[in-house]
This record gives sequence, structure tokens and C-alpha cells, in this order.
Amino acid sequence: MPESSPKRPGFATRAVHLASRMEGGLPGEPLNVPIVQTANFRFDRADVYAEVINERAEGWVYTRLGNPTVAAFESAIAELEGGERAVAFASGMAAISSAVIAHVQAGDHVVSSKAIYGGTHGLMSGYLPRWGVEVTYVDTNDLEAVRAAMRPGTKLLYTETIGNPTLRVPDIAALGDIAHAAGALMMIDNTFASPYLCRPLELGADVSIHSATKYISGHADTIAGVVIGSAEGMAPVTKTLHVIGGALAPLNAFLLLRGLKTLALRMERACATAQRIAEFLCEHPKIECVHYPGLSSHPDRDLVTRQLDGSGGMIAFEVAGGLEPAAKFQDSLKLIAIAASLGECHTLVSHPASTTHRQYSKADRKAAGITDGFVRLSVGLEDPEDLIADIAQAL
Ligand SMILES: Cc1ncc(COP(=O)(O)O)c(C=O)c1O
Repeated sequence: MPESSPKRPGFATRAVHLASRMEGGLPGEPLNVPIVQTANFRFDRADVYAEVINERAEGWVYTRLGNPTVAAFESAIAELEGGERAVAFASGMAAISSAVIAHVQAGDHVVSSKAIYGGTHGLMSGYLPRWGVEVTYVDTNDLEAVRAAMRPGTKLLYTETIGNPTLRVPDIAALGDIAHAAGALMMIDNTFASPYLCRPLELGADVSIHSATKYISGHADTIAGVVIGSAEGMAPVTKTLHVIGGALAPLNAFLLLRGLKTLALRMERACATAQRIAEFLCEHPKIECVHYPGLSSHPDRDLVTRQLDGSGGMIAFEVAGGLEPAAKFQDSLKLIAIAASLGECHTLVSHPASTTHRQYSKADRKAAGITDGFVRLSVGLEDPEDLIADIAQAL
């Protein structure tokens, strides 16, 4: 309270002002980034506020436009991915939608991988055409098909570092070259790899995107997304965030910062366990085929060793007999949970055709190689022997 206050302010005044007071001036800084859980920031002078909101001076105004905890996460992830700037969002889909919307307008054309996360496919097939943006779907492992799909007006080439759920790994440098030769941006969803396994910007992509809900958070307690790129490329993404408004909450930014600290350990463990499970599945008579980037049978094995610092924690496989045995297998698991999402401490199983990729038409799913018997496993941090025993008894 100002010292000159003529009388003690009333309860309501004291409650409002005391609740926003912070003791300061003592030696010692917080070791962790504090959660600056505030919607807005106060100014002592109206002209300073106007300068800051008009971006003529640095400062904080309103958490949709920027927040210190969120900014700490953005700068950490930008540096880890080798980008100049990162823009954080309230979800992976908010990040993907905003990054795409920021770079296209009516009359533009997008070339997209045909095997991507179902939500992204929903944006590409259900929304972009409504806004006059045409999308061509290709197999981004077929470089000739990608080259043939590019045309004047192509603004974006979109793919995933490790495709969801087929686990194909495209050639990032070659796709970057094709995109740039056509005057387009190469945008890539790096969720399945995480910045620990891959830094797409260093390989030739222009924009890297994460559902930070997954490996970056690592604990299934946060929904978040982030887009990383050059300062120039991120300027329209920031503008889109400010208008569309999918801002990350400060508490969630804190949880992501905490997740980043153990990302390397968690990824190493998930990769090692996934390799063991994939090898076990390959030998099992009830398994028809196993898709895992760490197997010598993986069709993109050379790219895996060239582009990734590990084979990842995601496995896809087909149970012999198709849909019914695949469903029975999932229902019989005791330790492994049937659940959406991935990249967390628990090992999770899902059936893409009826869940994460439900946005696809049957024909699109078939074209993308997602069969009805396809089962997806997100390998967590449990003891590998326990996971293998659970899978063995369920099979
Ligand atoms: C590869 C990939 N990208 C993006 C998303 C969307 O992220 P979010 O659920 O955080 O919106 C998902 C969600 O499962 C995903 O698997």
C-alpha cells in the first residue's frame, strides 16, 4: 500500500493487493523457472504499456501475447532443436493448425504425407479445402512422387519425422531440397522423435512441430504444442497465435520445462525397451509383421541411422487374423493400458484405424498403409521383462 494512504484500505482492497504481493530483495534466485500464473501484467505508466503492447519496447502485457514461464520453455526448446525461435501452444493441434494457417491463403497448394496423425489429416482434408487451399497427398518416402506433386503455388510440404502410425522415416534433407526448389517451406511434425532423437531444422526442414503433450512432457499430465523455426518463419506463427489464441498456460509451460530435464533419460530407456519388444514380436508366431525403425527389416533403416539418434519408443505390428484377434490382444493386456496418446511413463496400446486415425476415410487409410489389424504400442518406462511377459500372455 502507498505510505501516504490516509486510512487503512478496506478488506476487499487489501485482499486484492496483498494476494498479488511477492516478497523480494533477499539473496537467492529460484533454481526452477517460477510459474508466472497471471493473465495480465501491470504498468505504472500508461505510455509504457502502450509502447510494450505496440511492440516498440520489450515487456509483458497479457499471457495470450507472452508470459515469462512460457517464454522460458520456448527459448529452451528453440535451442534444443537448433532453431532461432519457438512459439508454444495449448496443444499439438493448435501448434499444427496455427503453423499451417500462418503460411497459406486461398489459392495456395499444400503437399502432405498421406500417412500422418489423424487430427492433422482432419485439418488437411476437412478445413484447408474450405478455405480454398488445395492439398495433394503423397507418400513422402517416394521422392519422385513428391517432386511430381509440387507446382507453382505450392507453399508447404508437410510430413512427420517418424510417421504416425506407420513409423516410416522420410529423407528430410531431400524433401527440404525439393520444397526449396519449388519455393515452398518444408514443415515436419517431430513428435515421435522428440528433439532428443532428431533436430529436423539441422537437416534441412524449415519448421519443426511437436505435440509437446507426448515425449517433451513425458508424464501425461499436460496438453501442449510448439512450433520451431527461423525468426522470420515464426513471425507469422506468432501473429496467428495472438489472433487464433491457442496460447500455452504458464503452469503447463512449467511442466514441460520439468519434462525436458529428463527427456534424454526417458528416450534412452524407451528406445532400449522398444528394441527388445520389437525383436520379441518378430519371433512370435501370432505376429504377422512388425514395424520398428530399429529392426534391420525396416524399409528406411539407412535414414534411421543417418537422421535419428535412436530408433524411438513407438512400435506398430499386425496380429495374425486382423481386426478381431487385434482387439482380443488389447483386451487381454493386464499391465499395458489401452489409451490415447504416447510418449509417457506408462506403456500404452491403441488401434489406429478405430481411434487416432478415425478421421481418415477407409480408402485413405488403406492408401496410407493402416490396416485393420494394425496395433500401435507406445513403450514406456516399466521394466522390459514385465512388458514382454504381459504381451506374451495376451498373445
Ligand atoms: C504425431 C502427432 N502430432 C500431433 C498430435 C496432436 O497433438 P495434441 O494431442 O497435443 O493436440 C498428435 C496426437 O496424438 C500426434 O500423435
